[in-house]
Amino acid sequence: MKYTYYGQSSFLLETETTKLLFDPFISQNPLAKDIDITKIEADYILISHGHGDHVGDLISLAKQTNACVIAIPEVIGWVSKQGVENVHPMNFGKYTFDFGTVRMVWATHSAGLPDGSYGGNPAGYVLEVDGKQIYFAGDTGLTVEMKLLPELYNLNYAILPIGGNYTMDVDDAVIAAKYIECDQIIGVHYDTFPVIEIDSKVAVESFKRAQKTLLLPKIGETITL
Ligand code: NI
Ligand code: MN
Repeated sequence: MKYTYYGQSSFLLETETTKLLFDPFISQNPLAKDIDITKIEADYILISHGHGDHVGDLISLAKQTNACVIAIPEVIGWVSKQGVENVHPMNFGKYTFDFGTVRMVWATHSAGLPDGSYGGNPAGYVLEVDGKQIYFAGDTGLTVEMKLLPELYNLNYAILPIGGNYTMDVDDAVIAAKYIECDQIIGVHYDTFPVIEIDSKVAVESFKRAQKTLLLPKIGETITL
């Protein structure tokens, strides 16, 4: 499986059969200026919550790709109002798609949509795809809800926010990695704004001290999971 980072919390997961795009916020992110969004392909777009830094390019990319948008019903309502018809609303449960199984899980955060309407609850996802189990936490603070995950999964990778202020910082994410019992962590939601800038070397060292690996692919870089 391939993981390509697009900055902030946006990335593409390519399974053997399917392209899954997450939280597209690319064209308004100066750090992602070298990403040509007209070249992005997706079969599904998964959205954690309706904040602008997660849905900035959602409508244009949903229309460009005709991908099926997966999100909580309140976000889907906003998406539908803008003429996107290929949608799959879900809530805190799990569903088996043609590419694998998706569980929507708790995130400790707030949610609202760009037009000011109610965004439902923020969420994360656990995916079972190509024989691997991957957790994308969305925007979340550290929460004991995470301790539920190792009861249900043996996570191979977790994609965690590490920038602080709006979400977990590095120290919180190290604790989260212990809660979820996952050793391979991919950091997101950092460096985009001054308040979420981090020292990458310190971050990698912090995870290493906890016998965990923090992966920080560059924007535009693809890694194999
Ligand atoms: Ni947010
Ligand atoms: Mn955010």
